[in-house]
Amino acid sequence: MTVQLEHVLSVGQFDRDQLEDVLARAEEMRRIPPLGTDHRLRGRLLATLFYEPSTRTRLSFESAMYRLGGEVISSEMAAETSSAAKGENIQDTVRIVESYADIIVVRHPLAGVADQAAEVASVPIINAGDGAREHPTQALLDLFTIYRECGRIDNLTVTLVGDLRYGRAPRSLALLLTRCRGITVQLVSPPELDMALDVLRELDESGVEYCMERDLDSAVRESDVVYMTRVQRERFPTPEAYESLRSAYRFGAEQLAAMRQDAVLMHPLPRVDEIDPAVDSDSRAAYFRQARNGVYVRMALLDLLLNRQGVMA
Ligand code: NCD
Repeated sequence: MTVQLEHVLSVGQFDRDQLEDVLARAEEMRRIPPLGTDHRLRGRLLATLFYEPSTRTRLSFESAMYRLGGEVISSEMAAETSSAAKGENIQDTVRIVESYADIIVVRHPLAGVADQAAEVASVPIINAGDGAREHPTQALLDLFTIYRECGRIDNLTVTLVGDLRYGRAPRSLALLLTRCRGITVQLVSPPELDMALDVLRELDESGVEYCMERDLDSAVRESDVVYMTRVQRERFPTPEAYESLRSAYRFGAEQLAAMRQDAVLMHPLPRVDEIDPAVDSDSRAAYFRQARNGVYVRMALLDLLLNRQGVMA
């Protein structure tokens, strides 16, 4: 059976076969030379609507589109510079932008906005992060990175560290790991930033073993993957609440020494001070390779959505 991928709104929509299909396609995209050789999206236009700051997600989507021969129109800082500043709601905005573009990538500070956009859209919508809820394309590129770095996506101990409460990247990755087998997830956060119950319930129901761990060093020793995250300052009620937690966990020389030789250190980026830059030159530090993988995964998704190919299911 084949299933059409209509939108990318949440990791929950990907079953194991679809996930493997995306990873295989991303691997193919890696082999396409940089620019000017592949034209499969020629004549197609991508619109990026970003109501929150972004470097990697927006630029890697745009790069992905150009690399497949497509073109891009972009509203960064959309909260300030689009008609949202005049009070236009997302559904009206999407009804307009869909007449200018063939696919729309949306990032917004409110949970559920990408779903609202998809309700009215006649073109594919991609959720590039909706508040503290989901960031599905980040989770897909994270899993692609795990596959490339570890050689597998099953039988792994993955340690998620930092802001698990407001971080949409670790939330989405945890949810995507429910599609993998033999997974243990270690959740390392201050109590104020613990992973939300809805995700823990999903882990339970899908048979993923997990534990809450406050001690980073002991979690690192057990890990195949250590996934550090930034404390999400923009989601905190007060600056003081943020300052009291921003440096709760840091990965430096000591943690590197505790990490296994075949383990890998990841971060969705941007980092503030949770990974010491001295760690960057270690071959286990995979975060810059991870960011590059975002282009390949997004190429695969754009191709799937715009060419409406069936995904094996
Ligand atoms: C993440 C995000 O926006 O959620 N960034 C990204 O897309 N790579 C993580 C973060 O901002 O901390």
